[in-house]
Amino acid sequence: MSETFDDLWAGLAPLGRDRAGGGYRRFSWTPADRDVRAWFTDAASGLGLDVRTDRNGNLWAWWGEPGPGAIVTGSHLDSVPDGGAFDGPLGVAGGLAAVAGLRRRGVVPDRPIAVTVFVEEEGARFGVPCLGSRLLTGAITAHRAAGLTDADGVTWSAAMQEAGLDPSGIGPDPDLVAHIGAFVELHIEQGRGLADSGSPVGVAGSVWPHGRWRMDFSGRADHAGTTRLADRNDPMLPFAATVLAARSAAEENGAVATVGKVRVWPNGSNAIPSRVRAWLDARAPDEAALRAVTDAVDAAARTAASEHGVFHATYQESYSPVVEFRTGLRDRIAALAGHDGAPAPVLPTGAGHDAGVLSAVVPTAMLFVRNPTGISHAPQEHAEVADRHHGVAALTDVLADLACD
Ligand code: GLV
Ligand code: MN
Ligand code: MN
Ligand code: MN
Repeated sequence: MSETFDDLWAGLAPLGRDRAGGGYRRFSWTPADRDVRAWFTDAASGLGLDVRTDRNGNLWAWWGEPGPGAIVTGSHLDSVPDGGAFDGPLGVAGGLAAVAGLRRRGVVPDRPIAVTVFVEEEGARFGVPCLGSRLLTGAITAHRAAGLTDADGVTWSAAMQEAGLDPSGIGPDPDLVAHIGAFVELHIEQGRGLADSGSPVGVAGSVWPHGRWRMDFSGRADHAGTTRLADRNDPMLPFAATVLAARSAAEENGAVATVGKVRVWPNGSNAIPSRVRAWLDARAPDEAALRAVTDAVDAAARTAASEHGVFHATYQESYSPVVEFRTGLRDRIAALAGHDGAPAPVLPTGAGHDAGVLSAVVPTAMLFVRNPTGISHAPQEHAEVADRHHGVAALTDVLADLACD
């Protein structure tokens, strides 16, 4: 039986890892995802927890009969392409280790405790992040989720079915949501806030509003050698201008904007492209600044597209409003997670989380663990062993506090 965080981590860390590059490719409903879900089921069952799958494919490991007032912790096991080891898994393995720690302490909770794994948090395969928690809470309709497709045109429903789950019942689960008294997510910090402040553990104050926009530029394929420049309708040019405009708009508005995913048709080095499809990820401290960025990007795309005789359209694929975590729960957790009498620091974050989605419907908080590299969504993401233990110890204290009268 794996009880300690290190034992649990030793079982989880090798799964879905690219041996050459060191990054993780754990995409929803793929064999790597099946492996990490099986790891969770085995590990949680080994701790005597009752593992259930909800109607949306999220996993729940219960200590005590599911019921109102439950204290829930957990995170996600899917990854971005070539992602780091800790984004998501730290909170899942940490949640199981915290439950094991409570047991070792002889704690007898007055309320049920559950450790969850939310599906498709990164939106790496189907485009919409936090899909499992959005479905659970009704933040996305079942109809829209069912029809989301991956790069090969496979729908969410088909992929879920292929993985052996029944997709016919996906959608909001108000009864399950009504069981959640509080949700606390342990997560690697995805910036340098804690490394700079010298604290092993921090608490989330807010999440920047953010979203994803798909941008399509359609022109005309032709020969790279024989087509005069003046005769081209090359969608790559307005696309390139739009990427630069996104950078400028982000700088002007104190925001960030990223184009990290691009598809080009027909994708030949000696053919003018017929089509470019790219995804804008934009985030800002407030919603007005975010809107200023996306409006500026859209205007730049329209102008550049018309200059080049190219058709342009933008579609919003997801949007996550600003999250301000409840100060009462946040401060209680900061006090428990602090050291030498000082509360743990409270940090804003530009990263999205299931905790952010859940915060719309239940009391929610997040604990962050120091990341000495400050890098995330890349293999260099890291947490020192001592800091992992600090994070798990803080979560254990928080669960004990919240689950006991
Ligand atoms: C997910 O981690 C995101 O913030 O994009
Ligand atoms: Mn992530
Ligand atoms: Mn994450
Ligand atoms: Mn995230």
